[in-house]
Amino acid sequence: MIKIDLEAGTVAVADGDGETVVPLASREAFSIVSEAWLRCGWDNKYVYGFSWMGRPIIQLPEDMIRLQEVLYRLKPDVIIETGVAHGGSLIFYAGLCKAMEHGRIIGIDIEIRPHNRQAIESHELADFITLIEGSSTAPETVRQVKSLVAPGETAIVILDSNHSKQHVLDELEAYSGLVSVGSYIVACDGIMQLVAGGPRTEPDWSWNNPTQAAADFAARRDDFVIEPPAFPFNEGNVTEMVTYWPGAWLKRVR
Ligand SMILES: C[S@@+](CC[C@H](N)C(=O)[O-])C[C@H]1O[C@@H](n2cnc3c(N)ncnc32)[C@H](O)[C@@H]1O
Repeated sequence: MIKIDLEAGTVAVADGDGETVVPLASREAFSIVSEAWLRCGWDNKYVYGFSWMGRPIIQLPEDMIRLQEVLYRLKPDVIIETGVAHGGSLIFYAGLCKAMEHGRIIGIDIEIRPHNRQAIESHELADFITLIEGSSTAPETVRQVKSLVAPGETAIVILDSNHSKQHVLDELEAYSGLVSVGSYIVACDGIMQLVAGGPRTEPDWSWNNPTQAAADFAARRDDFVIEPPAFPFNEGNVTEMVTYWPGAWLKRVR
């Protein structure tokens, strides 16, 4: 149980027989309140309430800002994302590519609904985006994606399609070879682990999730490590992301 006392400026957490009380102005309090906020946001479908330049984007805004920080630093030649849905995330990356005057996007989805395709293909930023329809792990899809990336190009890969552990592991195997040294493959939505037991969840989400896939992948590879990107600017107390993507950032190190 968590008790927030704004008058006293404390957060109390029940632990066993007693409780730990920490000041609101502490990293511990921020972490406890953030975790509760993430769970409450999940239960209220908070991330289903945003759009980017006219297209719905199903992301926590905090994650979008962090990804933007990385994209601006790396300025990759290609941004590859599995899981398009309404296309908001593709439009978000496309706007960054236009502003940076660099980069293009490949978006993959097992089903690109006609109205979503029409909206993406008629968007002001459509020229930056190539859509591929097919399962992200189907050999033909992987072949198509690889054919669109030239040798020596730098790439970042964002996995936001089917979030089962096995599917993410298969995507990691299929696409990690495209990731340049110093860049990332991001296994999104490991929040499943935190919210298991809540509405719209399955009991196996405690282990069957992208965080576990990323951990397994990193454990058997020496070319990737789990390493969230450092904040490029931080004059505050908080040093860890508030994120739907815990343990997601796999950095290519060799
Ligand atoms: C969470 S949504 C993507 C959200 C989007 N990236 C955004 O930020 O707005 C997940 C998408 O993955 C797609 N999907 C599910 N299984 C897939 C698979 N095997 N291959 C490719 N896409 C898949 C679904 O059709 C759905 O559109």
